[in-house]
Order: sequence, then structure tokens, then C-alpha cells
Amino acid sequence: MMALAASAAAQGSPSAMTGVANPEQAHIDYILKCQGCHQPEGGGDIAHTPPLQGEVARFLHVPGGREFLARVPGVASVDLSDARLAQLLNWTLQRFDRSNMPADFEPYSAAEISQLRRQPLRLEREATRASLLAAMGERTRDH
Ligand code: HEC
Repeated sequence: MMALAASAAAQGSPSAMTGVANPEQAHIDYILKCQGCHQPEGGGDIAHTPPLQGEVARFLHVPGGREFLARVPGVASVDLSDARLAQLLNWTLQRFDRSNMPADFEPYSAAEISQLRRQPLRLEREATRASLLAAMGERTRDH
């Protein structure tokens, strides 16, 4: 527990992250609800879980990507309140992929999360994800 609190405290000052009122709580929520699959540093695993590290904020640059991030089953169906989940998703983006965050990023609000999580992605999520990745690829090529 001490190690957990210490590493949570090392995540930086509360004001450093937009839409994250309590980064320590967000980090603990991540540890309890997400890192079993996504790994402590967001690296994922090759077989089953995509990396968040250096990747996750790229979805914010393509149409539908913002919605997708809140509708994947691991996010939409987690047993956290809308406000806790909004904070956790805002934290996840800034903790693992700050460099890909759009400059005009608007943090997820509890109301937005509430609306999006009512439409969780199911079997169509793989196809949805693939088309978003394709859109990102095209965007990169344009540059
Ligand atoms: C049971 C394993 C599992 C858990 C637990 C889990 N995820 Fe995921 N996550 C996945 C998989 C697999 C995907 C890829 C999309 C899909 O098939 O659902 C994914 C996709 C994502 C994405 C979209 C990025 C992408 O590349 O697809 C985000 C953001 C994300 N997860 C965040 C979280 C957060 C935050 C939590 C904790 C609240 C969490 N996940 C819990 C397995 C998990």
C-alpha cells in the first residue's frame, strides 16, 4: 500500500492535468480497474491488449475517435461513477500519451461519459477500431 501511494504521488501535481481533480484517485482507479490488462505503464500486451502508452491520444485526432475511447467495453462498463470515469479517462490520456494530445483538448465531462457509456461497443468494436486506425494512417501520410 505504501508503494502504491508513493507511486501515485509521483504522478505530478494535481494542476498538471486538465479534467483530473484528483490524480491519486485516478491512478488508484487505473491500478484496480485497468492495469490488469493494460499493464502499469500502459504497454498492453501483444496478444490481447493494445498499448495506451504513446498511442491512445492519437484517437482524438480522427472523427469518432473521442467517442470510441469512452465506448470500448473496458471503459464503458467499469463500475465507477461517470465523474470518476471521466477523470480516469482524462488521466489515462495525459499520463500515457501527453505528446499526442491535441492542443485544444477538452477534458471529458461526467455528462459526456454518461451519454457515451450508454452505447458500449460490442462485436463491432474491432471493425470500428480498424477504421479509426486507417483514418490515422491517412492523416499521418498527409503530413
Ligand atoms: C479485460 C481487459 C481490459 C480491461 C480490464 C481494460 N481494458 Fe482497455 N482495452 C482492452 C482491449 C482488448 C482494448 C481494444 C478494444 C477492444 O477490443 O475492446 C482496449 C481498448 C482501450 C482503449 C481504446 C484504445 C485502443 O487502442 O483501442 C482505451 C482508452 C482503454 N482501453 C482504456 C481502459 C481503461 C481506462 C480501463 C480501466 C477503466 C480499461 N481500458 C480496462 C482491454 C481491457
